[in-house]
Amino acid sequence: MEIVVSGIRPTGKLHLGNYFGAVKSFLQMQENYQTYFFIADIHSLTTHPTPADLQGNVRQVLAEYLAMGLDPDKCALFIQSDVPQISELYTYMNMNAYLGELERSASFKDKVRAHPDNVNAGLLTYPVLMAVDILIHKADYVPVGKDQEQHLEMTRTFGRRFNNMYGVECFPEPKAFSTTGELIKVPGLTNQGKMSKSGGEGDAIFFDDEEEVTRKKIMRAVTDSGPTELNQIKPEAIQNLFDIMKLVSTKDTIEHFDSLYNTCEIRYGDFKKQLAEDVLSFVRPIREKIQSIKSDDTFLGKAAKTGAEKAIDSAEKTLREVRELIGFKRFY
Ligand code: TYM
Repeated sequence: MEIVVSGIRPTGKLHLGNYFGAVKSFLQMQENYQTYFFIADIHSLTTHPTPADLQGNVRQVLAEYLAMGLDPDKCALFIQSDVPQISELYTYMNMNAYLGELERSASFKDKVRAHPDNVNAGLLTYPVLMAVDILIHKADYVPVGKDQEQHLEMTRTFGRRFNNMYGVECFPEPKAFSTTGELIKVPGLTNQGKMSKSGGEGDAIFFDDEEEVTRKKIMRAVTDSGPTELNQIKPEAIQNLFDIMKLVSTKDTIEHFDSLYNTCEIRYGDFKKQLAEDVLSFVRPIREKIQSIKSDDTFLGKAAKTGAEKAIDSAEKTLREVRELIGFKRFY
């Protein structure tokens, strides 16, 4: 059976971008593939969370994955740090990742620009750790949003390099995957590109936000003074709101506002009110589940344990092969 791996960093609550870029595909893929979905808590250490924040965020994402419908009996749902094999393979793969290629990665450059005071080695070798997450289960597919395309390319490079070095076909080439056929980028509300947890106050729509908070964020999204010509092309800020509407609203609603825009009759207040209500109708049932699961230690513990066991099993199998290929040999 084909193998699927993907993960999310626990740096807070999940937002619509995480759901439509990644989790929605996870839900479909857990039905037909051998799937490994995890919480990338080691990755999140690049930003130095406190132990309390780290624990809280891992609990939050675990509860959210479960509330969204990931089923621990169908997929291997696990926490990255529960699988020590990942850290071991990361050490080995780092020996064949080169400074130049790591420095050229777009996400590294972005992080350096955003946080020049915290350019740590973990940030530089982030793509190696991500490659290991994927290669350790010999994944064929990786459901991710568009922003992860370059990391996937690097994963293929590292896997291929290892295969060539030892003259083997140890790692298959994993492909980025979206069940819609195209990798998705959900825009944020503040027009700085993709919806993101680090996009600042008001950018992301989180599943576990209070309804009033979500309503306010959407109503505050910047628009313009309105279209002045029939059928004019929408400026980015407006197109972004329409793009979010396409994810949560009915076809009729979208067509209704699209046609009002095209005839220059749209009232942005009404448009955003409708968008807020449709976002909330979509988010509400998931949020209610998050609330009840979040404090259920027994359920969370059982899910994480089952997942860790499956992931360790698969990871250890690959690692045994890798240790032997590298030439490690026990003398006892
Ligand atoms: P992260 O934690 O930033 O995001 C998790 C997933 O959500 C997707 N995503 C989006 N998709 C569409 N539009 C958006 N606005 C948006 N924002 C986030 C991301 O593409 C991603 O799929 N490096 C990864 C985590 C990771 C990983 C892995 C992923 C670590 N190891 C192995 C796959 C396989 C990251 O930082 O994603």
